[in-house]
Amino acid sequence: MKEIKIESTLYLFENIEELPEKVNTLMQRAVKAREKAYAPYSNFNVGTAILLENGEIVTGSNQENASYPSGLCAERTAIYYAGSQFPNVKIISMAVTAASKKNKTIKPIPPCGACRQAIAEYEIKQETPIEIYFMGEIGPVTKSNSLANLLPLSFDKSVL
Ligand code: THU
Repeated sequence: MKEIKIESTLYLFENIEELPEKVNTLMQRAVKAREKAYAPYSNFNVGTAILLENGEIVTGSNQENASYPSGLCAERTAIYYAGSQFPNVKIISMAVTAASKKNKTIKPIPPCGACRQAIAEYEIKQETPIEIYFMGEIGPVTKSNSLANLLPLSFDKSVL
C-alpha cells in the first residue's frame, strides 16, 4: 500500500478592503446579488458574482423552493447563467458571499460540493483556472487560484 498526500494552497485576506480593487468590486457585486437571494426556508443568503474574460460580470443568488431539493445555490445559478449567455467566454474569477439571518456569518463560506463539481466542469472546459474568492458577511476572504484546489480527485469527462 502506498500513501497519497493531497495538498492545496489557499490564501487568506483579512477583509474585503485587502482585496485588489477589481476583486473588491466583484465582491461588492456578490453582496448586491446576495441581497436578492430567495431563501425563506434556510434564511441563509448567498450571492455570487462572476467576472468573464470579456469584462462582463454576471451574478446570481440562491433560490429556494418549498420542495427543498428543487432550490439552487448561488454559485450554480450564476455559473449556469454565464454558461448559457456566454458559452464561449472564459470565466476569470468568482466571488461568493454568504450571510445567515440567524447569526452574523464571520467565516469564509466555501462553495458546497455540488457547486464545486459544477465549477469544475467549466474550468476543465475552458482549460484555464477559475479564481474563487469566498467570504461570510464580514471578515476574512479566502482565495483559491483554481477550482482544482477545492476539489481534488474530481470526476470529469476523461473517464467517460
Ligand atoms: N447555498 C449556496 O447558495 N451555496 C453554497 O455553496 C452552499 C449553500 C445555499 C443553498 C440553500 O439555499 C442555503 O444556502 C442553505 O443551504
